[in-house]
Amino acid sequence: MIYFNNAATSYPKPQCVLDAVSFYAAHPPIDAGRSSMVEDEKDVILSCRNKLAKLFGAANSSCISFTSGSTQSINMIVKGLGLDNKHVITTTTEHSSVVRALKVAEKERNVNLSFVPCDEQGFIHVDDIRNQINKDTKAIFVNHSSNVVGTEVDLYAISELAHDENLLLIVDASQSAGTIPINVRELDIDIMAFTGHKSLHGIAGIGGLYVKEDVDIQPLIVGGTGVKSTSLYQIEERPIYFEAGTQNFVGIASLEAGVSYILDKGIDAANVVKSKLYYSLRDKLENIPEIKLYGTDKYYSPIIGMNVNGVDPKEVGNYLSKRHNIVVRTGILCAPLIHHNLGSDPNGLVRISLSSFNTEDEILTFVDAIKEMIDISKTNQEELHLDNSNLSCV
Ligand SMILES: Cc1ncc(COP(=O)(O)O)c(C=O)c1O
Repeated sequence: MIYFNNAATSYPKPQCVLDAVSFYAAHPPIDAGRSSMVEDEKDVILSCRNKLAKLFGAANSSCISFTSGSTQSINMIVKGLGLDNKHVITTTTEHSSVVRALKVAEKERNVNLSFVPCDEQGFIHVDDIRNQINKDTKAIFVNHSSNVVGTEVDLYAISELAHDENLLLIVDASQSAGTIPINVRELDIDIMAFTGHKSLHGIAGIGGLYVKEDVDIQPLIVGGTGVKSTSLYQIEERPIYFEAGTQNFVGIASLEAGVSYILDKGIDAANVVKSKLYYSLRDKLENIPEIKLYGTDKYYSPIIGMNVNGVDPKEVGNYLSKRHNIVVRTGILCAPLIHHNLGSDPNGLVRISLSSFNTEDEILTFVDAIKEMIDISKTNQEELHLDNSNLSCV
């Protein structure tokens, strides 16, 4: 199999992650306050928190709490901040997890929304954000890196604007964490959602939230925390304030191993591999006249959006999967607003998302398969109408 769907979930996982999952699934958890086992350097929860704080440049590990992934983190942000009757500026590059959470808040809590459009290449212009600010604006909520075309927002400029105007800066780092270096203190990010199962190499079902020390936010759920159990109310000590319920211990162990892998190897080293593959693929696709490429031609994260003229992206995905065992993602990609700006309305596009585990040989196989499909589409469209049951996330 050739796996080009890393922006959905990364595969394969590094060996150390697989080892951590099987080790921690097979051993009793050392979980502070929840068993009589003595907490020591083997406390993987503490270790994971410390490593995430190091990776993101957080002031301390209490700023990092665990969730089931970005979607849960984003729900906590939207529900837990005092946004009622306030105005939030966001962008058309956002994932459904942000768009839908905000739209519910708009409907139920009178939160006013402005969606700043990206340009044809997928970039957000800071002046367009500035122009939306009004007296009720409370926050700017931005997708750090697009899951459709990989473009990156200028977080330094947006952060400067947000703090000049006394607004909260909230970042969805689902695609960027582990791929684009992030220093939350240098960037002065107030809140950041991240997921564990993409470029941080963990398994699905683990992610987290960075919250700056002085930012006030309510937890999404309350319940047992393992400490101060006599209290009838949620204890307000971070990070466990945000972490009621038994932790996803194996998921955290996988993330600990994934983050260790990144800290050992370095984000830059992985990007050398990923950007080389990205440019190699982009150059080859650019030379095929029947292909339309979307987004920028500069590497930010290893995602390429494309379409084949006259062929539905879903059919491209089906063909690659069924004939060549190549996995991509097709359609709207849970990003309902960006396609209008990119020009990929109404069917979306074919997304190729690479990892440092991909190879140049896989790129060559992919390009040959696409060329073959284009030839068939010219002579025998029927042959492309294979089984269309693979609807992806349209
Ligand atoms: C930009 C973006 N935000 C949010 C999410 C949701 O992440 P999770 O799967 O961790 O809930 C994704 C996942 O595809 C994403 O790409």
